[in-house]
Amino acid sequence: MVEMPKDFSLHHAEPAADFHTFTGNRGLAVEEPLIFEIGSTDTSGVDFEEPQESETRLGGLERNEPIGMPGLSEPQAIRHYVRLSQKNYSIDTGIFPLGSCTMKHNPRLNEKVARLPGFADIHPLQPEKTVQGALALMSELSRWLIELTGMQAVALSPKAGAHGEMCGMMAIRAAIEARGEGATRRKVLVPESAHGTNPATAALLGFTVRAVEAREDGTVSAEAVRARLGPDVAAMMLTNPNTCGLFEPEISEIAAALHEAGAYLYCDGANFNAIAGKVRPGDLGVDAMHINLHKTFSTPHGGGGPGAGPVVLSQALAPFAPLPFVAKDGDDYRLVEHAGDAPEDTTAFGRLTAFHGQMGMFVRALAYMMSHGADGIRQASEDAVLNANYVRACLSDILSYPFGDRACMHEVLFDDRFLKGTHVSTLDFAKALIDEGFHPMTVYFPLVVSGAILVEPTESESKQSLDQFIGAMRSLAEAAKSGDCTRFSKAPRFAPRKRLDETRAARDPILTYKPPLPLAAE
Ligand SMILES: Cc1ncc(COP(=O)(O)O)c(C=O)c1O
Repeated sequence: MVEMPKDFSLHHAEPAADFHTFTGNRGLAVEEPLIFEIGSTDTSGVDFEEPQESETRLGGLERNEPIGMPGLSEPQAIRHYVRLSQKNYSIDTGIFPLGSCTMKHNPRLNEKVARLPGFADIHPLQPEKTVQGALALMSELSRWLIELTGMQAVALSPKAGAHGEMCGMMAIRAAIEARGEGATRRKVLVPESAHGTNPATAALLGFTVRAVEAREDGTVSAEAVRARLGPDVAAMMLTNPNTCGLFEPEISEIAAALHEAGAYLYCDGANFNAIAGKVRPGDLGVDAMHINLHKTFSTPHGGGGPGAGPVVLSQALAPFAPLPFVAKDGDDYRLVEHAGDAPEDTTAFGRLTAFHGQMGMFVRALAYMMSHGADGIRQASEDAVLNANYVRACLSDILSYPFGDRACMHEVLFDDRFLKGTHVSTLDFAKALIDEGFHPMTVYFPLVVSGAILVEPTESESKQSLDQFIGAMRSLAEAAKSGDCTRFSKAPRFAPRKRLDETRAARDPILTYKPPLPLAAE
């Protein structure tokens, strides 16, 4: 049972939801209009000299009308953006329990190191002799990644997890083509619970996707995989730990069955943060795996970036790594950019990206690894698993689990059975968590679980913040079960914007400002 801090009630003063202020502001929670609504086209924060009349060189394409950009004075502009920034919920504000996303604390040391001019101010087109330190860093990062995963080679350039999947599967495709089986091995097996990027990657590369169902316990059996194997199967894409937060116990057997059938095992390593320092995927028989540096090795991410998804490759796939990669000749590092410059046994499938990858993220990842050390990385994994299990155990009497109340890895998966008969949906529950001051967890993913609620607390949360989160989850579950739907039906009530039509916002976004029509003259 979670004990609340003694002063917990102080934070729970009943907010006056129905009290309206003149400004619409609520204390420090300020209603901020769009910049178009506060600015005016004839204002400017800067004094420009009137341009002298001169011939334009635009051949008649010059603009005839004002551009219509809002002008603000400098203080107005600063206030606008600072107020907007204060509406952000971030990992630096509070717990961010988004399952599958690993929003953990990013040590400031990483940021400091990544901003050193020797890393931050260099350019990919600089002569190699002027960027030897950066190349040495990439080489050292490669060594750590290979060591941690027990693999043979690494491609650093993929820009995200999904991009890494594409890179790894392209290596697999190249290996199969080199064996002369490109035309026959056209199928890729993907478990039903997989992240959407897995089947999308396979389909993008021209493979046919075959689903593999999970057992009642949420994991994939070697037997189910064997039943689908044949001379037409190129690979299986398996996430481990999987998207239900469970370690795949038969992964070695699955790898052996795939290899015996001439296929490869691609592992989605987005959840490597649960096992880094504990298990080496290479020892489990994995042939290719991407690592989301932005999750496991801490880079601030979200909202689309930045990301880096290096791919580690087994001995069988190492010759199929993409260009470019770092090589060392004597004391000098160089970037191998052309197939002709690669060592003899390398049949690179070509260049995957324009340059070498996300330098800032390489610096952060290596800083994280070196400052944690091998024992620290292992402890981070253990603590991530411990925290998820603490959340699971503290809520076991009130929430429901799709695969029974059993130990999980770094994230804990609930389903919506505890809400049955309450008229509260998973979405309502998540929205009510916003009123409690938390970013909601991942909901409705993985798709195989009804009303899924996926919580990933990460290793960097204290017991105090976990207890507060657990307290909020418990109080919401109790309210739902007691029939108190008022906390849910209009939630979030205390957010700057209330319940939005998210589907419409995603499918039919309004991205340009249209000024309101002038009022018709009386
Ligand atoms: C299991 C899994 N695979 C793949 C990805 C894709 O990674 P990215 O968002 O970096 O492309 C994610 C991202 O959340 C994930 O959770």
